[in-house]
Amino acid sequence: MAPTISAPITDSSEITDFIISEGNGVKGLSEMGLKSLPKQYIQPLEERISASQIMPQQSIPIIDMSSWDDPNVAESICNAAEKWGFFQITNHGVPIEVLESVKEATHRFFGLPAEEKRRFLKENSPSKNVRFGTSFTPEAEKALEWKDYLSLFYVSEDEASALWPPVCRDQVLEYMKSSEVVIKRLLEALMKRLNVKEIDEMKESLLMGSKRINLNYYPTCPNPELTVGVGRHSDVSTLTILLQDDIGGLYVRGDNDRWIHVPPVSGSLVINVGDALQIMSNGRYKSIEHRVVANGSRNRISVPIFVNPRPCDMIGPFPEVLEGGEEAAYKQVLYSDYVKHFFRKAHDGKNTVEFAKI
Ligand code: OGA
Ligand code: NI
Repeated sequence: MAPTISAPITDSSEITDFIISEGNGVKGLSEMGLKSLPKQYIQPLEERISASQIMPQQSIPIIDMSSWDDPNVAESICNAAEKWGFFQITNHGVPIEVLESVKEATHRFFGLPAEEKRRFLKENSPSKNVRFGTSFTPEAEKALEWKDYLSLFYVSEDEASALWPPVCRDQVLEYMKSSEVVIKRLLEALMKRLNVKEIDEMKESLLMGSKRINLNYYPTCPNPELTVGVGRHSDVSTLTILLQDDIGGLYVRGDNDRWIHVPPVSGSLVINVGDALQIMSNGRYKSIEHRVVANGSRNRISVPIFVNPRPCDMIGPFPEVLEGGEEAAYKQVLYSDYVKHFFRKAHDGKNTVEFAKI
């Protein structure tokens, strides 16, 4: 539906009101058919990606998980987490229908009128665990990111039933539930290489004690080369499980300030190591910087599940990792402090992890 505004908006505060306070998001802006990008979205040159920075011949590993018990699979997972911090998995056991329906649910949520979505803005939302927003931290950013999102922090099925938007709630819960097995398998494999033989209750809490799921919407952009969908960052999770559609635009940092595209592979999930696992593994597994470019002709969605420690957990290198005499590169930090630090600033590459460095 076309937004009902009478005159073209050019004034900065009008744009901010329209996008942020009124709940239209960049989607609303995109649907007005703007011919050029509002200046708030123009990123400094060094944050844009140029063709010469892309490594077309490179790609992150794609790992077939169908014969899970084959030690080669675990081996490939650990190698990928050490070398790339990013890989894709196929035959992971999450049914295709579940993936398709969560993508449909994402389109349904963003297709709601602004009045409906506005109910989940920070200032209106019935809970801090449900948040509709745009960009990343608009109040801290010099330039905005071309993206809207719904962020859902999972507490319990009952809370989700009561508070999550009904147009996507059941599909999101189903996706979370069906991905649990593969998440555990990935973590078990990764832990073995760290000399952690068993994931006991405490380890389970540290590795996957809480989950956040985001529905991301990147609307068609009039000048995609001048802005970003998501700026350079690493995730603060243990692991991120990302479902993307068939459009593409996610890039991972390679060597020499160059970037590697993560091509959509039908039915696959993108897995990446987050800062929490980098810290717990004392740097053995790496959380790699990534970013999303804006698209000039299509609306893109993605649905990451951030598998995290609990906010009240202290995280630091696991004792098993340091057993052999390796020196700790990170101190113990309260996970909620770490996350607060991440959300207080604009995306700034790998800088968040400095917070935990010794
Ligand atoms: C994120 C992210 C990538 C994408 O939400 O942290 O990196 O493809 N998303 O949307
Ligand atoms: Ni990310």
